[in-house]
Parts: sequence; structure tokens; C-alpha cells
Amino acid sequence: MPNYARFETRRLILRRPAPGDETALIGLDAQSDVTAYLAMRGVDPARLAERIPPRIELSQKEPDAEYGWWVIEDKASGGFLGRCLLAPMWPGSSDEVELGVYLGAGSRHQGYATEAGTALMDHAFKSLKLPHVVGCTARDAQAVRRLLARLHFTKQGRITLYGDDADRYTLTAEGWLPRRS
Ligand SMILES: CC(C)(COP(=O)(O)OP(=O)(O)OC[C@H]1O[C@@H](n2cnc3c(N)ncnc32)[C@H](O)[C@@H]1OP(=O)(O)O)[C@@H](O)C(=O)NCCC(=O)NCCS
Repeated sequence: MPNYARFETRRLILRRPAPGDETALIGLDAQSDVTAYLAMRGVDPARLAERIPPRIELSQKEPDAEYGWWVIEDKASGGFLGRCLLAPMWPGSSDEVELGVYLGAGSRHQGYATEAGTALMDHAFKSLKLPHVVGCTARDAQAVRRLLARLHFTKQGRITLYGDDADRYTLTAEGWLPRRS
């Protein structure tokens, strides 16, 4: 039975959202630059908060699911740093699987997003054997572009996502696995 519930990196634990994470996850989604782009743009903060308890319930019910959300935790202190996700972009199809990483404002610029993203790319390509992973970003979201570049994603054109015009980046298994062997 595969164990996709928890990944460990040099400085981080990625684990499934659990009861007790509500406040931290809701607070993270309330940060202005998290809600500024794409899926969360213009969504009522109360609605964003409402989706957290069901997400925790689902994560607890299916901890070993291939996809979903992981909380990013500081291995040394157990502190909450953010969350990341690997999820099919379109319901009912896993042809296009998307990476997302969201850090609390005080947890940025220390390489945590790159470290968490690296763990999820290993999961995507080594365990799930996906042919490619997608990353999307609004044009002015420079930090996301830099993160995708550090993870070796390359720009593959444009996409309309959640009513927004976004850049579409992809990383292929061939582009990732040789760097990690
Ligand atoms: C996107 C996001 C996660 C990127 O966070 P980040 O802190 O810039 O990325 P990392 O944690 O990988 O940190 C890398 C930066 O820390 C620096 N750094 C400092 N110490 C470091 C260390 N020990 N190891 C690695 N990098 C380090 C790097 O040089 C890099 O700086 P740069 O971007 O100026 O080149 C963050 O901006 C965010 O949460 N944005 C809002 C949410 C969002 O829009 N997410 C995108 C959904 S896909």
C-alpha cells in the first residue's frame, strides 16, 4: 500500500491537513497575494474559509490518495509554513495535473516552496509516473514564475483559467527524473 500521506524533506514535513489546522489554513488563504490570482481571485473570504473543514475531512478520509493537499510544516519546530497541492486541473480527468504551493508571508524567501515543490515533483514522476505536471500563473505573479523556473518548468503558452488569462508552464518526466537520479 503506497504511503502518500506524508513526505519528509531536509527541513520539511508535508502531511495531510488535519483537525486543528483550520485557523492556519484559513489565515493562509486570507493573505492578499494568495487571493489575488486565478482560482481564488475575487472569491468571498467566507466562502474560501467554508471549504477548509470539508478539505480536512476528505484528507483524513483518504490520506493515501495520489492527489490533494499537504500542509507544509517545519520539521524542527512543527510550525505551520503553508500548504501545497497536486491535483487534476479538470474534474474527472487526470490528464492535466497541477502543482500549487502557498506559503505564509513570514515563511517565504528561505527555499521552502522549492523544497516542498521538489518533494511533490518526485511524487508525481517517481511514484505516480505522470508524463508531465502543469503550473499556471498570472502574468504579474513574479514569485510564482521564479518558483516554477527553479523547479525547471518551462513556459508552454497561455491558458484561460477561472476566467483569468494565465501563463501555462509544464515540467515533463524527462525534464525532471534525470536531475533526481
Ligand atoms: C509562490 C511562493 C510559494 C514562492 O515562495 P518563495 O519564498 O519565493 O519561494 P521559496 O520558498 O522557494 O524561496 C526561494 C527564494 O528564497 C531564497 N532563499 C533564501 N534562502 C534560501 C535557502 N536556504 N534555500 C533556498 N532558497 C533560499 C532564494 O534565493 C529565492 O529567492 P528569489 O525568489 O528572490 O530568487 C510564494 O510567493 C507564495 O506563497 N505566493 C502566494 C501564493 C501563490 O500565488 N502561490 C502560487 C500558486 S501555484
